[in-house]
Amino acid sequence: ARLVVLVSGSGTNLQALLDAIADDPHGFGARIVAVGADRDGIAGLERAERAGLPTFVCRVKDHATRDEWDHALTEATAAYEPDLVVSAGFMKILGREFLARFGGRIVNTHPALLPSFPGAHGVRDALAHGVKVTGCTVHFVDDGVDTGPIIAQGVVEVRDEDDEAALHERIKEVERSLLVEVVGRLARHGYRIEGRKVHVGE
Ligand code: GRF
Repeated sequence: ARLVVLVSGSGTNLQALLDAIADDPHGFGARIVAVGADRDGIAGLERAERAGLPTFVCRVKDHATRDEWDHALTEATAAYEPDLVVSAGFMKILGREFLARFGGRIVNTHPALLPSFPGAHGVRDALAHGVKVTGCTVHFVDDGVDTGPIIAQGVVEVRDEDDEAALHERIKEVERSLLVEVVGRLARHGYRIEGRKVHVGE
C-alpha cells in the first residue's frame, strides 16, 4: 500500500513508521511515498528528507481562502496516489474536498482516549480534568474533529508529578507503536468500515 503521511511538528510518529518499514520493507505491507506538512522548518520534514522521500508544504496563509488551501492540499496529496493517508500529528482540520477525495482512507492518531478530550489540547485537557488514565486513539477521519470510527486505543497511566510534556511523551511512546501496528494491519489485511465499527482483515 502507498502511504502519504501528513505532519505538523517533530514527526516522531512518522519516524516510527519509517523505522518499521526499513526494518521489514517487504513484510510491513506499505511504503511511504510522500510526506506533507502545513508549515515549513519542522523536524517532520527533515526526517522525510533524510529518508529520501518527496515532501510538500501547503500553508493556509499562502491561500486566499481555507477552501483554496483544502484544494491545494488535496491536489498535492492526490499526486502521489495514496492508498492510505496517515495524519500523524497534523494540526489542521481537513476540509470537505480532502474528505471527499480520501474519505474512508484517512487514519489519524490522537493523544487521548476519544471520545474524551478531542481537539488540539487533548493531553492538557485530560491532565486538567484529573483523569487517572488517559492514552491514545487511532481512528479513521470523518467530517468531525476526532470523531471518526475508532480502530485501536492504548492506555497510559497519569502520574501525580506529570506535567503536560511528560505525560505527552509517555503517551507518544504508546502512540507510535499503536500507529505502526494499525497501519501495518490495515495495509496487509484490508479493512471494512460499517458505521462506527472497523473490521480489519475479514
Ligand atoms: C502526537 O501525539 C499526535 O497525536 C499529536 O501531536 C503529536 C505529534 O507528535 N497531535 P509527532 O509530530 O508525531 O512527534
